[in-house]
Amino acid sequence: MSHIDVKNFYFSYAPRSARETGIWTLSNLNFSVEAGGFLGIVGESGSGKSTLIRNLCGLLPITEGHVHIDGCNLASLSAREMIDLRRKIQLIYQNPKRSFDPRMRIGRSISQPIRSLEKRAPSDEELANLLASVGLQAEHLNRFPHELSGGQLQRIAIARALSVRPGILLADEPTSALDVSVQAQALKMIAELREQLKLTVVLVSHDLAVVGRVTDSIIVLKDGVIVEAGNTANVLLNPQHAYTQKLAEAAAVVSL
Ligand SMILES: Nc1ncnc2c1ncn2[C@@H]1O[C@H](COP(=O)(O)OP(=O)(O)OP(=O)(O)O)[C@@H](O)[C@H]1O
Ligand SMILES: [Mg+2]
Repeated sequence: MSHIDVKNFYFSYAPRSARETGIWTLSNLNFSVEAGGFLGIVGESGSGKSTLIRNLCGLLPITEGHVHIDGCNLASLSAREMIDLRRKIQLIYQNPKRSFDPRMRIGRSISQPIRSLEKRAPSDEELANLLASVGLQAEHLNRFPHELSGGQLQRIAIARALSVRPGILLADEPTSALDVSVQAQALKMIAELREQLKLTVVLVSHDLAVVGRVTDSIIVLKDGVIVEAGNTANVLLNPQHAYTQKLAEAAAVVSL
């Protein structure tokens, strides 16, 4: 189990001008996710959700402030700690079709993290077990991505992320490219795997209803600033900020 601490955190794609103008992509973020916690990040398009996710896993450099993963400062990791971090934090993206090489069979794709991070080739049995953990069969290993449905591919993306036994799973809109009928199924799977594997999970969505269903705490981002944060039930039932109320109303309308 891993925990995340974010303190006085600022990020800009153009740091020099942000320091001059005071306009940041992400501004003065403070939050933490305890080990085994399930955090939801909600906000409109362009509010900075994906940018934050990329910051949390070290794909973008931190401009100001701190991100600590299990007490290690992301800004000052040694090469060895960086490799460890790549294994420890795994990502699932919005569009499963784009997270797979179309020319590669699933068996090959799914074994990439183990090959590159553990420097070994996984056995057929190990791959079959991975697929079984997300409700798929060994025969799917021989297929190409276009021979699977979006929901199946996203489940395989989840299995691939979990293959290196991460402590943290970052899921950036993992269900928004899926058919409504399989969205709930994919969410449920993430929630179940989290329990089973004692994962710390961060789930991003523009949809408060999606995040409300599975998380235990929520932060609401607007223009790169946290406008509301708290326990999921409180945020859903008693939103304080007008922006959260708007998101809550939109979620209620969609779920009617
Ligand atoms: N590579 C980049 N270079 C410069 N600006 C960027 C880059 N990526 C994103 N931005 C800007 O940063 C802001 C936040 O974008 P981000 O992608 O984090 O939003 P988001 O909340 O994930 O939106 P969505 O719900 O549409 O995915 C936006 O104003 C966006 O235009
Ligand atoms: Mg995004």
